[in-house]
Amino acid sequence: MKGILLAGGSGTRLHPMTLAASKQLLPVYDKPMVYYPLGTLMLAGIRDILLISTPADLPSFRRLLGDGSQFGVSITYAEQAKPEGIAQAFHIGADWIGGEPCALALGDNIIYGDGITTQLQAASSRAEAGESTIFGYRVADPERYGVAEFDSNGRVLSIEEKPSTPKSDWAVIGLYFYDARVTQIARDLAPSARGELEITDLNKVYLGLDALRAEQLGRGCAWLDAGTPGSLLQAALFVQTVQERQGLQVGCPEEIAFRMGFTDAAALAQQAAALGKTAYGAYLRDLAGGKLA
Ligand code: TTP
Repeated sequence: MKGILLAGGSGTRLHPMTLAASKQLLPVYDKPMVYYPLGTLMLAGIRDILLISTPADLPSFRRLLGDGSQFGVSITYAEQAKPEGIAQAFHIGADWIGGEPCALALGDNIIYGDGITTQLQAASSRAEAGESTIFGYRVADPERYGVAEFDSNGRVLSIEEKPSTPKSDWAVIGLYFYDARVTQIARDLAPSARGELEITDLNKVYLGLDALRAEQLGRGCAWLDAGTPGSLLQAALFVQTVQERQGLQVGCPEEIAFRMGFTDAAALAQQAAALGKTAYGAYLRDLAGGKLA
């Protein structure tokens, strides 16, 4: 199972913050935004990751994440010359994917909550077995999102993009697990009226093949999308609240790598040393020393 982190786009809703910096490199409390979806892919057990971003921002992502070995994963990089749609990731990544199943996480989507790891790993197993998965989150304003309707077994019955009369309250979040057919299906997609390769159109092909399932994130889970100044601040406050209350990190890739068995205590200690006197570094030192077992 492979995974793509899509971290391009123009971030126009965050101008002027994103005039000279990638949205996905902005801080969400104490770490760059992209750490959170990276952690999500890692929790699914994915260790082979392609990060796609703009030609201007790619060097910064390389500087931040390197080859991924500090997190026990392998990170490869590719450019998206223009933001021509989320499904374009499967054109850009086609050779790299090499006909395997592949997940896609948007670089500005943060999920957190009990039970998510089990759901991620279930989606990954299904993708390996020839079925794709979207994730649904109950929202108060479904008309702003892609909306999915599904039966009690999680079989998707319909998906609609920003419907004026939504068939459910379940928004489709920016995390998708596709089976080995994804590259081929994406190749045959036509651009939409706005000139983009739409992820909803890709999902509708799987729906037509009766090969699309939904994992419902429970009410105890958070789905945050940090695309506007308000939601970026809310996400930061959420992370700060949970971290300070529990003394545990939200979306810390070094910790996830350690707990998933991708790295060991020596690797954690090395990362802690590199982060010096920060609270983040101290946390990694405690983790390496067995204090947070
Ligand atoms: P959006 O939030 O839809 O777009 P954006 O990031 O360009 O922001 P804005 O609407 O403020 O202009 O994108 C969702 C995520 O997907 C985000 O992480 C950027 C990424 N993305 C790409 O990397 N390439 C694309 O072609 C598109 C459409 C999105």
